Amino acid sequence: MTPNRYSTIGDELFAAGRFDEALSAYRQALAASPRDAQARMGLDAILERARTAQPNAQLRTLLLEAYADEGANWDAVGWGAANQLVVGWPADNDLQRLAADPLLHAFLRKSLNRDADLERKLLALRKAVAAAEPGPQVGELIASLAEQAWLNEYVWPDDPAIVDEPAATMFRPPAVARAEVVEEQSLKVSIPEIAPITDAVSLSVQAMYETNPYPRWTHLARRPTVDVRAALMRDFPHATPVEFGNGPLEVLMPGAGTGQHPLTVASSYANAHVTGVDLSRASLAYGKRMAARYGVDNIEFLRGDILDLPKLGRTFDHAECVGVLHHMADPKAGLQAISDMLRPGAFLRLGLYGESARALVVKARRDIEMARLPSTLDGLREFRRKVMSGEWRRLRPLTAWEDFWSASLLRDLCFHVQEHRFTISRLRTFLEGSGLRFLGFEFNVGASQSAAANAGPLELYRARFPTERTMSDLARWEQLEREKSNLFPGYAFVCQKA
Ligand SMILES: C[S@@+](CC[C@H](N)C(=O)[O-])C[C@H]1O[C@@H](n2cnc3c(N)ncnc32)[C@H](O)[C@@H]1O
Repeated sequence: MTPNRYSTIGDELFAAGRFDEALSAYRQALAASPRDAQARMGLDAILERARTAQPNAQLRTLLLEAYADEGANWDAVGWGAANQLVVGWPADNDLQRLAADPLLHAFLRKSLNRDADLERKLLALRKAVAAAEPGPQVGELIASLAEQAWLNEYVWPDDPAIVDEPAATMFRPPAVARAEVVEEQSLKVSIPEIAPITDAVSLSVQAMYETNPYPRWTHLARRPTVDVRAALMRDFPHATPVEFGNGPLEVLMPGAGTGQHPLTVASSYANAHVTGVDLSRASLAYGKRMAARYGVDNIEFLRGDILDLPKLGRTFDHAECVGVLHHMADPKAGLQAISDMLRPGAFLRLGLYGESARALVVKARRDIEMARLPSTLDGLREFRRKVMSGEWRRLRPLTAWEDFWSASLLRDLCFHVQEHRFTISRLRTFLEGSGLRFLGFEFNVGASQSAAANAGPLELYRARFPTERTMSDLARWEQLEREKSNLFPGYAFVCQKA
């Protein structure tokens, strides 16, 4: 049996919820072929979900192996690692024991913490370490906690009494700028511009992302190569088949951010060339730095407004735009600008905020406004204090959101200068007249096991409307959403240019 066969079996077992057996299959695949991306992704998806009430030696070993593999998804495995750290945490906060824990160091340096229990323990550890006598073990703990502070962009509470380095680097950026910061400064000026930004909302959105590029990511996880058009034709067989010839698939990514999504696309879509466009030079410089680090050269970054895309004078075979259009003054104008860039038959993958999914964020935004919390690091820290201490109890569930845990993520989540939210009926008006045909929704896009994640809502639709095979009728989806709340975590969907 080839290693890839084991990975496929792993995926089948995973989709059936037989996680122990899936884990064995993925491990066999990786033992035979350590760079097997399918098995790595499957195993990481299991480690992401792995929770135990007591420390588990096998899980610890698997987590350490994942952290030793540059191609693993450290964001995903961080969830399982946080659980192991919490359940194995020494009751007496024993510094020696903690300093000797390789999982703690790997986690702090490679995964952003997203666990409230663990944050409390890490804050106590930081306090103890700051007060401890210097020594090699304390030095290592300081270095790891400083990396975590860099990852969360210093969103944990400050302690102005700690002024001397190295301890101060657990609270504030180091006095000597990090190499990444220096490199990004010089890269910023090398990014070509489509046209100067003039739209008032675009200018204020740009200012926000110049200060807080989103998202701050640390590594490019290995992914299996995918023929994206063939995969979309399989998922949406009612789409119109169109061949674009043998040249590279020209992919447009408006709102490229810091390049995480564009680099994932450039490194995993077969024979693709990616053009990432964004308002923020700081974000694009981050993406350029990461492209150089990972040797991804089939990508270019351009600075500009989506509204000015037509000035590029080029057309594209495929586009992906996630988490962007709802931040424009007129999302429909943004959609039209993108649609105008697409060749007939091109697919467009979109991700937009949903009104009901963001009900809690709407409350948070209201409370932030009432309390006049500024959109600064101090404002973000004060917001977190109110939420985590229970002072703003009704917002406590926000800590279950992935984007609660660093400055740029939290600013984007709750302090955004401009956000629209969609309903399905608004989606219909949005798409009308755009030259785009709605093909269907995707659930949990980018998740390692999309088939399993897709199953719930799609099965519901199939059961409810068995004769509508394309599952692309927005009126029916609207009806289903009325019958079942929380169906959509947001609207992720695919269209095709007519
Ligand atoms: C929430 S981030 C999403 C980044 C990326 N798409 C992702 O999913 O990681 C939104 C990005 O859209 C960009 N953006 C917002 N409005 C834009 C516009 N009118 N033109 C170009 N980029 C825009 C912002 O600068 C920001 O980098």
